[in-house]
Amino acid sequence: EKDGYEHFMMKEIHEQPKAIKDTLSPRLNDEGFIEIDEFNLTKKDIEGFDKVMVVACGTAYHAGLIGKFALEKFAKIPVEVDVASEFRYRDPFVTDKTLFIAVSQSGETADTLAALREAKARGARTMAITNVVGSRISREADDVYYTWAGPEIAVASTKAYITQLVAFYTIALDLGLKNGSLKEEAYHRVIQELKGFPEKAEALLQYKKDIQFLADEQFNSTSAFYIGRGIDDAVAKEGSLKLKEISYIHSESIAAGELKHGTIALIEEGTLVVALATQDHLYDKMLSGIQEVKARGAYVIAMAKEGNQEIYKTANAVITIPDTFDELTPILSVIPLQLLSYYIAVARGCDVDKPKNLAKSVTVE
Ligand code: M6R
Repeated sequence: EKDGYEHFMMKEIHEQPKAIKDTLSPRLNDEGFIEIDEFNLTKKDIEGFDKVMVVACGTAYHAGLIGKFALEKFAKIPVEVDVASEFRYRDPFVTDKTLFIAVSQSGETADTLAALREAKARGARTMAITNVVGSRISREADDVYYTWAGPEIAVASTKAYITQLVAFYTIALDLGLKNGSLKEEAYHRVIQELKGFPEKAEALLQYKKDIQFLADEQFNSTSAFYIGRGIDDAVAKEGSLKLKEISYIHSESIAAGELKHGTIALIEEGTLVVALATQDHLYDKMLSGIQEVKARGAYVIAMAKEGNQEIYKTANAVITIPDTFDELTPILSVIPLQLLSYYIAVARGCDVDKPKNLAKSVTVE
């Protein structure tokens, strides 16, 4: 059932190109427009929303952070993202003009379900992005977007996260076109680019030996810091969570610009820093961030788009991703981070698919 892979996590990482395709294709009609059949949102409904509230836990929350970028960029709607356990207890500002989106692979997470109920009680239009048909969250939301990732067995979420990103991009593009924020030409350009992502993801998987090599060098690290700016900061958070949950290495993620406000005090000789520098307009800023940590002795694994040269002079090791639009990089940049965590955990002899103290779905508070 693991298709020859040693762990479900590796199998699921490899299923990502297909998962991207399976989630995207059913939402594209013959004319090349996004059509989300499951939604009954009219143009009037869409124009009536004054904000979007995304609520989730763990990896699904990290997908929500990317969702915020996509929705604000393409649909020009203000978006708040919150972890479910906070949202439900904070007297959240939600009205009948709020589009509430719950994200949950399992569709059974107790806090996310409670948050959904809370939002509903406050009059929000509720939507679920989930991977499990008939799950509790899918049954209670007004609209459901199913991510067709297929069953995810490993505790560490990989392919479900990637399909949650695809879900957010398609929703953001659809809303943007319908509310007039996005010109048709730009809309089609992004869709065209997205269509090439299964192949781009596949190409990235070919580099896994290089990443294993880095993991074999770094697996003894006692602490890791993930840094990035803009949308990379959100991906860094996911990379960091993935590392800590399966390898038990202390790891944290910090917006690169925040480093010097405290966290940089912890960087010393040999500290592992994973630096994401995939955003063209933030590239130079990231280079100086990398220099700052390098000056304190950090070992830096950097990630950039193919073709960037400067980074090779600055970082200790470089992972590249295929060139694409800045807004879409998370679908690609997360893959090497998943692989890095996986190989580090394997090198440390950890039980990758069933990390200690963790359950696949958290149905209690
Ligand atoms: O099933 P859900 O998406 O609601 O689960 C949320 C989190 O528990 C989950 O993403 C968790 O953080 C994963 N172990 C991350 O890999």
